[in-house]
Amino acid sequence: MNRTLEPELMDDPAQALVYAQADFEKENQGFVDRFRDYFPDFSDGHALDLGCGPGDIPIRFAQAFPACRMTGVDASAPMVRLAEEAVQKAGLSDRITFRCERFQDLAGANIADAVISNSLLHHVPNPLQFWHKLRLAVKPGSPVLVMDLLRPDSPEEAQAIVDRYASGAPDILRRDFYNSLLAAFTEDEIASQLARMNLTRLLIDVSDDRHWVVGGLIH
Ligand SMILES: C[S@@+](CC[C@H](N)C(=O)[O-])C[C@H]1O[C@@H](n2cnc3c(N)ncnc32)[C@H](O)[C@@H]1O
Repeated sequence: MNRTLEPELMDDPAQALVYAQADFEKENQGFVDRFRDYFPDFSDGHALDLGCGPGDIPIRFAQAFPACRMTGVDASAPMVRLAEEAVQKAGLSDRITFRCERFQDLAGANIADAVISNSLLHHVPNPLQFWHKLRLAVKPGSPVLVMDLLRPDSPEEAQAIVDRYASGAPDILRRDFYNSLLAAFTEDEIASQLARMNLTRLLIDVSDDRHWVVGGLIH
């Protein structure tokens, strides 16, 4: 099945709210735990979360690394508003800030001691822009961890995954999940993106039936 693009930003307020209220604890905490497993020496500095959405991962990351400061980047104003509220509620406003802008427009090089990103890449029309910006943003020798959905082989398989993991979820969330699966990349496509960007030291892992994870140190 070929990739079908979905809208780049999640900037409908109802869509952002439903996403913020969904239970992604297992995926999000698993992502932060994996970062810790991959990079046991990492403890402090400035971490960047590209496509941070409603801020759940920055909060979990900041709680896991109390000496770390975070910037979450998302170009959806409703998402950033929800993220700011969540961070304030968690009492972490002194260590987590947000930028409401497209990651493609992020200024500066070598600005981060770590870059993380979950579930952003499938929104991006040109994935090479993402890998380029990631490499530019991180200081040499620093860790990166990226996770996203795997594109299934057919629309029927995508629907079966939605039914398996999001039965009973609100319609907007089920619609977005289905569209995201159709917009996602295959493991081979990710491998070829990394090869084109000379990022083959990063390792790809297919962590379950619907996710891939790329991690390693950027040189
Ligand atoms: C599926 S959500 C993932 C949110 C969060 N990372 C998580 O795991 O819960 C993807 C987010 O990426 C944002 N996004 C999409 N394209 C973007 C871009 N070019 N620059 C910044 N944010 C973008 C969307 O607005 C949305 O909030």
